[in-house]
Amino acid sequence: MRLACFVLAVLSLFSSLSARAQGNDLAARPPMGWNSWNHFHDKVDDAAVRAQAEAMVSSGMRDAGYTYINIDDTWEGERDAKGNIQTNSKFPDMKALADFVHSKGLKLGIYSSPGAKTCAKFEGSLGHELQDAQTYAAWGIDYLKYDLCGLRVEMRAAPTPEAAHKMMFDAYIKMRDALRSTGRPIVYSLCQYGNDAVWEWGPSVGGNLWRTTGDITDKYAKMAEIGFSQAGLDRFAGPGHWNDPDMLEVGNGGMTTEEYRTHMSLWAILAAPLLAGNDLATMTPETVALLTNRDVIAVDQDAMGKQGDRVSAEGPIEVWVRPLADGSKAVGIFNRHPSAIMAHVDFQKLGFAHAVKAKDLWQGKDLGNISTPYNVTLPGHGVLFLRVSQ
Ligand code: GLA
Repeated sequence: MRLACFVLAVLSLFSSLSARAQGNDLAARPPMGWNSWNHFHDKVDDAAVRAQAEAMVSSGMRDAGYTYINIDDTWEGERDAKGNIQTNSKFPDMKALADFVHSKGLKLGIYSSPGAKTCAKFEGSLGHELQDAQTYAAWGIDYLKYDLCGLRVEMRAAPTPEAAHKMMFDAYIKMRDALRSTGRPIVYSLCQYGNDAVWEWGPSVGGNLWRTTGDITDKYAKMAEIGFSQAGLDRFAGPGHWNDPDMLEVGNGGMTTEEYRTHMSLWAILAAPLLAGNDLATMTPETVALLTNRDVIAVDQDAMGKQGDRVSAEGPIEVWVRPLADGSKAVGIFNRHPSAIMAHVDFQKLGFAHAVKAKDLWQGKDLGNISTPYNVTLPGHGVLFLRVSQ
């Protein structure tokens, strides 16, 4: 009996250590970085990626916490005679590129699909999972976005929805195991657009993050549809495993500054990965300020790792709250209407006594003690983003 207990204790220690090595330790906070897709699409190449790495440092983004430089779809070339994946002519030497990115104190991410083809119809990993994971590790890759895409062709041929689900589930497990077997810590990002309630099983297939929705675009309507649809998903996220409402569009030009503030605030409350999706090499100082606001990033990266949730929606005014490690709360008061509206915030309903201390995170201004109800005029599609304590 005692021996059995001892064996069980040792086994559980090993499994928790290995879960930590693969999960929490790897993405203890929501990953921060840059991804090529939103701005560059298929135009991403070696020179563009180097320029992003340099700009991430010179703009101060690295010092603000951004780490990953992630190459999305369209880097893939043909396989060689032994089946090894090669880069196409846009990426002459992936290992040299990884060395360059690492020399800047940053990490390099890459993209593939469990299907035969990726979304952009480049070579996928089907049947080559272990080989691809080994190639990534040899190149020095630190992050993989694994996009279902091509596998949907195979899934459509499955006899039942359950069989199709199992096909997808097994495909994600296969790459998880392949990545783990390399011994290199590689963040594992699942991308299957939030189907089949991925937040319920994402951690069990080794996902450090999983997309919860379809693709974002650089329009307020799409960003808001995605961001505000995340209510109720908070209990599925935590250190090592995060909901991912897709990459940022900040700085791409399709939204107003006010709307980009809403985008950043909502993503911070959602403990979402902060993956900039603009061209860092040409961004304006205003975009740098949006992406590097220390108070907003501190909310996103809060040590407790507890995702926030919606606490009220009255017409176009929504209040979202995220509990933070120091006992304070991040409070986002959002106006989804295109014109300015006066909102009345009742902090008692948010669990505070009648007066609270608040800091306006976008103004960088301590508001001191504010009494409840707090009346504030919110700009159209805008936000008042506060850190509130008793
Ligand atoms: C899908 C993903 C996007 C991007 C493209 C690349 O649409 O959801 O984020 O990776 O594929 O082809």
